[in-house]
Amino acid sequence: MHDALAANARQQWREWRKPYDRIEFNSVSSRMPLASSSIDAAVFRDFCARFASGVTITTVLDTDGQPQGLTASSFTSVSLSPPLILVCINHNSGVLRHFRNASHFAVNILHAGQQELSNRFAVKATHRFDGIPWSPGPAGSPLLDECLAHIECATQQIVDAGDHAVFFGEVIAAQVNENSPLLYYHRGYHILGGAP
Ligand SMILES: Cc1cc2nc3c(=O)[nH]c(=O)nc-3n(C[C@H](O)[C@H](O)[C@H](O)COP(=O)(O)O)c2cc1C
Repeated sequence: MHDALAANARQQWREWRKPYDRIEFNSVSSRMPLASSSIDAAVFRDFCARFASGVTITTVLDTDGQPQGLTASSFTSVSLSPPLILVCINHNSGVLRHFRNASHFAVNILHAGQQELSNRFAVKATHRFDGIPWSPGPAGSPLLDECLAHIECATQQIVDAGDHAVFFGEVIAAQVNENSPLLYYHRGYHILGGAP
């Protein structure tokens, strides 16, 4: 008797419930693909290429007192108080070890006329600084004479993430000049309002 009543109640419930009550939920976590296999690398690169950025030459003094640096667009401001920024450097970069060894580094933002300089610091070469005027910042990091703006930072933290090392720097000095920025977008250089 009791079983018959229960079966009847279940049958009524099946008939009365609304369509949206019938949606079945699976555990999301059990169906989520692993992060490492969830996105095609080319699609991810295309996505990143849609993010317009400025271009920097990020520099450091090596243990012999020589200037070292590379072109980097991964600069991001992180915090205003205290003033923190970050730059990401590829684990394959030949200059990465100099940044790991140094207490300070500098970020030089390029102006619209410095595309050649950007290319120069983006190809493997031993004498990138030959003929490039620079002066040391308060803590010695190379500040390029002709650029849109530069900052010098004390290295606060280095975080290895994937195939890059993320350098967090606390800004100790900054200088800005009036000019137009060099931009990088969709694997090419641009200037505000048109192509360089
Ligand atoms: C516009 C532009 C932006 C770049 N941004 C970065 C970056 O943020 N981090 C990085 O590690 N490499 C970046 N690169 C690539 C390096 O500049 C390039 O690999 C350089 O050769 C590294 O020098 P190294 O291997 O001699 O240290 C960028 C290149 C270009 C042209």
